[in-house]
Amino acid sequence: MSVTINKKFVGQFIKEHELSNIAASAEAALSLVRAKTGPGADFLGWVDLPVNYDRDEFARIKAAAQKIKKMCDVLVVIGIGGSYLGARAFIEYIKSNNYNSLHGDCPEIYFAGNSISASALSDIIKMCEGKDICVNVVSKSGTTTEPAIAFRIFRDLVVSKYGEDGARERIFATTDKARGTLKAFADEKGYETFVVPDDIGGRYSVLTAVGLLPIAVAGIDIDALMAGAAAAREEYMSRGFSDNAALQYAALRNILYRKGKDTEILVSYEPAAQMLSEWWKQLYGESEGKDGKGIYPSSVVFSTDLHSLGQFIQDGKRNLFETVIDIKSPKDSLKVPHDPLDTDGLNYIANRELDEINHKAMLGTLLAHVDGGVPNIVVETPDRSEAEAGRLIYFFELACAVSGYMLGVNPFDQPGVESYKKNMFALLGKKGSEERGRELEARIAAL
Ligand code: PA5
Repeated sequence: MSVTINKKFVGQFIKEHELSNIAASAEAALSLVRAKTGPGADFLGWVDLPVNYDRDEFARIKAAAQKIKKMCDVLVVIGIGGSYLGARAFIEYIKSNNYNSLHGDCPEIYFAGNSISASALSDIIKMCEGKDICVNVVSKSGTTTEPAIAFRIFRDLVVSKYGEDGARERIFATTDKARGTLKAFADEKGYETFVVPDDIGGRYSVLTAVGLLPIAVAGIDIDALMAGAAAAREEYMSRGFSDNAALQYAALRNILYRKGKDTEILVSYEPAAQMLSEWWKQLYGESEGKDGKGIYPSSVVFSTDLHSLGQFIQDGKRNLFETVIDIKSPKDSLKVPHDPLDTDGLNYIANRELDEINHKAMLGTLLAHVDGGVPNIVVETPDRSEAEAGRLIYFFELACAVSGYMLGVNPFDQPGVESYKKNMFALLGKKGSEERGRELEARIAAL
């Protein structure tokens, strides 16, 4: 099985020659990825990762996951951006967005350190009360403020509950192999560490220990996940444009962008895919939004958001296109019951599968949005199994790199992320930035 692109609902917005003209550019972009000669080529470690990963570390990840499962009721994963989105996205996508209520014999998993909200962190602390906890702190740089704050708080909590010796058994750090404050601290305290490879940026790190450890703790088969990604690599790295879904997706979105469609909405009809959309938004937004260019990535879950954003998509500013994830086989089966009285008038769909009804909602929406001037690319995936999720990860990652090269940007840097940090540090009076802090305070006062 494989990811496929259904072009039926984008056809009327794109002429055949536009697609054939752009094919060479997509293939050239893929050649840059293959030859590792494009901008940011130092960050292409994810390309061969599904077949070229550290087997010893992979075994340690599985062993640590087993240990965490035995020792803990709750795993707190501390990280922000690429250091948490992939894990959360694919736990929810493969298992459920209600994972923490349906976790079975696996620990509950909470994600902390992805904001600076006292309420958010306090809630997680409350949810841990009376439970055995483990912590996986994830930070490539080891210096990011949000996770560093959360780690201080949770480390204190773990140490006060289990002592330094107990904490050593329960804290796992995923960070740079040698550098950074977190690595030094973890080594000093004797915490088990896992590596974020030098040549893999945060948003491309879901198939490293960053994503794999929490995903394995959730009881997900990480061998199958990697095997799916490896199959996708085999397919997308070797095939030409006409049968390469990753190249076609990259090409279609670039054609639409050149026609003024500068906002892409990732659509799914499955609430379990909501966090996958958050992961996708970081992947595409951080890779392409630079040098005054980029497609703004947004997302919706239908039919839920048809009742809030449907009006805008149907009828608002026409700078939108949608990319619909069409999951062919549902995980669960549920039928509309028959009611002899039919007071709600639903008997016309009695005994029909909810999935069938969801599918009709999708088809109806696709047609309506196309009629409203919104092109729709449909990405078809067979199901939410580990293997197909692995394929989908690789599909989106590779298409993103190709698309970024086609757009003429370096898809692997994120210079813009630093600006808010510099201001925040200055306003907080961090050593060395006091002068800037005073300037910013004066600017704010003068506004
Ligand atoms: O993709 C990225 O580089 C970012 O989203 C980072 O993952 C995020 O800023 C967290 O950085 P770090 O892992 O160094 O704490």
